[in-house]
Amino acid sequence: MKRGVAITTLLCLAAGASAPSSVASAAPVAPACGSPGKPPCPLQRFMRAHVSAPLANRDAQALATAFERIAQLNPKPDTWKNWSTLAEQGARAATSGDFHSAKRRCGRCHRQFRARYIREFRDRRLVAKP
Ligand code: HEC
Repeated sequence: MKRGVAITTLLCLAAGASAPSSVASAAPVAPACGSPGKPPCPLQRFMRAHVSAPLANRDAQALATAFERIAQLNPKPDTWKNWSTLAEQGARAATSGDFHSAKRRCGRCHRQFRARYIREFRDRRLVAKP
């Protein structure tokens, strides 16, 4: 009887360990992400799901929210000032339904910061929403 309980407990623990939390705890050991066969990196995943999608769907409100979130995700707000500026300009453009102007901020930020971000911060977890 006791043995059965212990085994059940172990099975539950094992099941728990295979939940998404194991992905998080494995991250520091194998930080690789974003390459073929690896999961997308945190910001890359966010961009695909929450930034590209509302632009494609012409969802002004969701796009404005996404730009505001991008502003918060600036990894170096003291020195990468243009990151924040571009994100804020994008949010304003999206709010007023100017998708063309909003989209230009995507390209400007990518040209200025994407390679640097990938070099320095690629596996950085996205900070919790305030
Ligand atoms: C202020 C900076 C900034 C703005 C504005 C921005 N991005 Fe990004 N974006 C990045 C960075 C940095 C990355 C690289 C993340 C990575 O690969 O880890 C990225 C990556 C992406 C990716 C992932 C590409 C891939 O590797 O699959 C997509 C898609 C994307 N952005 C779409 C957009 C769109 C669409 C907009 C505008 C509506 C936008 N981004 C605005 C900084 C920005």
